[in-house]
Amino acid sequence: MSAKVIAVAGATGVVGRQMLRVLEDRDFPVKELKLLASERSKGMRLPFRGEEVEVEVLAEDSFKGIDIALFSAGGGTSKKFAPCAAADGCVVVDNSSAWRMDPEVPLVVPEVNPGDAARHKGIIANPNCSTIQMVVVLKPLHDAATIKRVVVSTYQAVSGAGRDALVELEAQTRAVLAGEAPVCEIFPHPIAFNCLPQIPQSGEAFMGNGYSTEEMKMVNETKKILGDDRVRVTATTVRVPVHTSHSEAVNVETEKKLTADQAREILAAAPGVVVQDDPAGYVYPLATEAVGKYDTFVGRIREDLSHPSALDMWVVSDNLLKGAALNAVQIAELL
Ligand code: A2P
Repeated sequence: MSAKVIAVAGATGVVGRQMLRVLEDRDFPVKELKLLASERSKGMRLPFRGEEVEVEVLAEDSFKGIDIALFSAGGGTSKKFAPCAAADGCVVVDNSSAWRMDPEVPLVVPEVNPGDAARHKGIIANPNCSTIQMVVVLKPLHDAATIKRVVVSTYQAVSGAGRDALVELEAQTRAVLAGEAPVCEIFPHPIAFNCLPQIPQSGEAFMGNGYSTEEMKMVNETKKILGDDRVRVTATTVRVPVHTSHSEAVNVETEKKLTADQAREILAAAPGVVVQDDPAGYVYPLATEAVGKYDTFVGRIREDLSHPSALDMWVVSDNLLKGAALNAVQIAELL
């Protein structure tokens, strides 16, 4: 691959910083790097390959001469600026939900549907973090046994809600341990020592059908990435007081029965998936162990007692890496 001029929009955020780390770690051929954020970060310097790069303010004309722009600066910013970038001939890999369900925009997980990236018209969407780690596990099972229905419950880390949310988790944890009342600014209820069945935390989380927007992302994006509308999905998404890595309890009903051993064998051979499954030896995926890793970990694989052809499993991955920055850089690598 010839070296590219890369921009990172939202470079100062939790995902943006991971994007820089992943570009560096994977030796992405970067000819030149432009870092973009809001006015409040103007002039800040971030390290990249032993040098410091100054952050500039994101503007409509930021993308002239840029080959690939990785966006992680929120949906509103992507809606406004991704078309400007595409019009300037830059390919946008967008981590927000702004473009994911647009039929003109490919939604790509490189282990699952790499071919879709080639259909882009200037914007490629990076899926929702919880969806990505689930589909890398579902895809090989779908190929082997045709998935009919998925029932998933998530245990999502606070870093998925951004930097300010992590500050709130830490401040609330300290407050509660000191016997003080936790202060809620980002989340509607205390996140410390709690589980919140509402993602995102904003007032617009819930839809007319009772599902949260995060839950509907898992439903709709899974079908789009697998390229199969017949796969039925239902989800309950929950924020838990974990710093990084999302965990998911996933029940998968298949047309053809798979034994737990067959599923383990299929998953052990799947790209980007690591089977960690020896419960008797206390071996199963853990959020704390997945931090900083590129793989998606799966364990507790067992046949569902209540159904003749279904499996239960526990799926864990670093939400900032495979769930965001790594997947975006892998898409850029496809380009
Ligand atoms: P900034 O740090 O200047 O506010 P996180 O998800 O961790 O909260 O990070 C969000 C990222 O998106 C940050 O880099 C933030 O920049 C950036 N961002 C948010 N809103 C805008 C905007 N309107 N224009 C440019 N960058 C933005």
